Amino acid sequence: MQKNVLKESPYSINKAVKILNNEGIVALKTETVYGIACNPNSIFSIESVYNLKKRPTFNPLIIHVNTLEMAKKIAVFNNLSEKIAKYFWPGPLTLILPRRKNKLVEDLAVSGLETIALRIPNSKVFQKILKKFKKPIAAPSANPSGYISSTNARHVSDSFGKKIELIIDSGKSHFGLESTILDLSKKKLYITRQGIITPEVIKKIIGVNIEISDYLIKKQKPISPGQTKKHYAPKTPLKINVRNPKKGDALLFFGNNKNYTFNPSLNLSKKGDLYEAAQNLFDYLRKLDKLGMKRIVVTPIPFEGIGKTINERLLRASVDG
Ligand code: TXA
Ligand code: MG
Repeated sequence: MQKNVLKESPYSINKAVKILNNEGIVALKTETVYGIACNPNSIFSIESVYNLKKRPTFNPLIIHVNTLEMAKKIAVFNNLSEKIAKYFWPGPLTLILPRRKNKLVEDLAVSGLETIALRIPNSKVFQKILKKFKKPIAAPSANPSGYISSTNARHVSDSFGKKIELIIDSGKSHFGLESTILDLSKKKLYITRQGIITPEVIKKIIGVNIEISDYLIKKQKPISPGQTKKHYAPKTPLKINVRNPKKGDALLFFGNNKNYTFNPSLNLSKKGDLYEAAQNLFDYLRKLDKLGMKRIVVTPIPFEGIGKTINERLLRASVDG
């Protein structure tokens, strides 16, 4: 491991807070994926994050807070959004809300939009840092724009080397897929990114209909700037729903399938558990990508519950160009 990677400890946590206060950037675990944290009040830090990720500045960052009180300083809540926040936070649900403009979050961090993406993360390390930092923290996923997200410290260091002053190693992210994004800023309720929390679960809690806005699947116009077609993609071309791998392929499969003695291959979950598959997905895609084979091929993954999100990520990863 490189020198800029430190195990989670009171020392590394204090160091992270110092770096954030000095307009630096730090990689941290969340329960979904690793993020690159910065102070959204500092133009310099925000620019560093955009440059590092090679992310277009029209694609706004998610802002993380540790209390509803802090959230209310930068976003406008109504009864419904407060109910949803109280039920799902801390946790893997990001809410798009009308923005309350002030210096806690610079325009640049939210691409000058009238709305803001917010969540309280459940990760202990992130919560401790938010508590000490006492201000909101912007944190996009810790991957070069378009590439596979990071679910452990090694992925972050593979992608960015020493360009991040500090990477705190807190082990694997619990879920392994990004938060669900629920847009509450429009008349209708939209899920603009599928994630850990399924639309069915949200509907059950709030009793209001929710649409999934996915222009790749539904051929709709994107309603969120981040809904790019190709994303989460390895450098190796990826093909989904392949049952018979060929020579030159690297195989990713799922469940107790004895037929797959194929080499090279990785099994997302031997016991056929979709949560385990989600946790392994980005790690295994990165591992297979490193082999430099002609193609990565993936067998069909059950289209149910969190399996729908896994399928959506793989579909985006398989889009050409
Ligand atoms: O699980 C997660 O959400 C992780 C961890 C680190 O918290 N973060 C993450 O951030 O996935 P990022 O930047 O990779 O994805 C943020 C998404 C982008 O697709 C962006 O377009 C969308 O959120 N977004 C941010 N602000 C928005 C806004 N005001 N309106 C619509 N979409 C927004
Ligand atoms: Mg991302």
